[in-house]
Amino acid sequence: MHRLSILGKQGQSISVVACGQGPMLMLLHGFPLDHRMWSEQLHTLSQDYHVIAPEFRGFGQSTLADAPYTLADLAEDVECVRQHLANQQQIHLCGLSMGGYVALEYVARFGNHLGSLILSNTKPNADNAEASAGRLAMADVARAEGAQAALQGFSDRILGPTSREERPQVVSLVHQMLRSASAEAVARAQHAMAVRRDFCESLGGFSWPTLVVAGDEDALCPLDATRDWSRRIPKAQLAIIERCGHLSPLESPQAFNSRVLQFLHSI
Ligand code: MLT
Repeated sequence: MHRLSILGKQGQSISVVACGQGPMLMLLHGFPLDHRMWSEQLHTLSQDYHVIAPEFRGFGQSTLADAPYTLADLAEDVECVRQHLANQQQIHLCGLSMGGYVALEYVARFGNHLGSLILSNTKPNADNAEASAGRLAMADVARAEGAQAALQGFSDRILGPTSREERPQVVSLVHQMLRSASAEAVARAQHAMAVRRDFCESLGGFSWPTLVVAGDEDALCPLDATRDWSRRIPKAQLAIIERCGHLSPLESPQAFNSRVLQFLHSI
């Protein structure tokens, strides 16, 4: 496993952790996490794939410039990483939650570079007014009182009850990542997500093999809603990970990895 820095769209330094050889599988993390949420995938999926886990602006070791950004800018950063590491190759792109929102922006801009798409614990819809206002309030708290105040109680929302009760190492890693998040990274990401585009109407035109992953204990992206929107994607398969909350790759890595490998091998 090694780390490298790649120049992103607006001169950002995008930190990337990479492992293995073969077709490229790019993993986009959730908010406000970093490449560590993909530890088990970097370890296992790299036996067959060149696994790449970039970190979004301000998270992990990626830099955060002064200007605000949009999720479209993050998709452009992902394309910089692809161009740098994959050259003309197509990639398999997997995004979890906020990483899924960025993956959808990537599809809209650079779909011709995609071999397949994995959307994990995410959703295609934009925020309604209430959700968007909640994000701006979180950004204000982060800036006024710090990231830890803004993220109070967040681990309970993203981890399912099974993980909270039975997987202390997962809980501990999530707490470590939450403690690493900076106030400004939290605020900027919330601002970007608050104004993200709605992709519900585009799903019917998706031509890529697509795997949608849902956790049956995911409170942020509930299974029933995921089932509904995944049906709109012509070639989508739905993988339900049991006893698992919003962070399927971390909470149930074996089940997640096996569904992903089954999907990728079937392409
Ligand atoms: C995430 O897990 O990336 C976030 O919870 C996404 C969101 O806040 O919508």
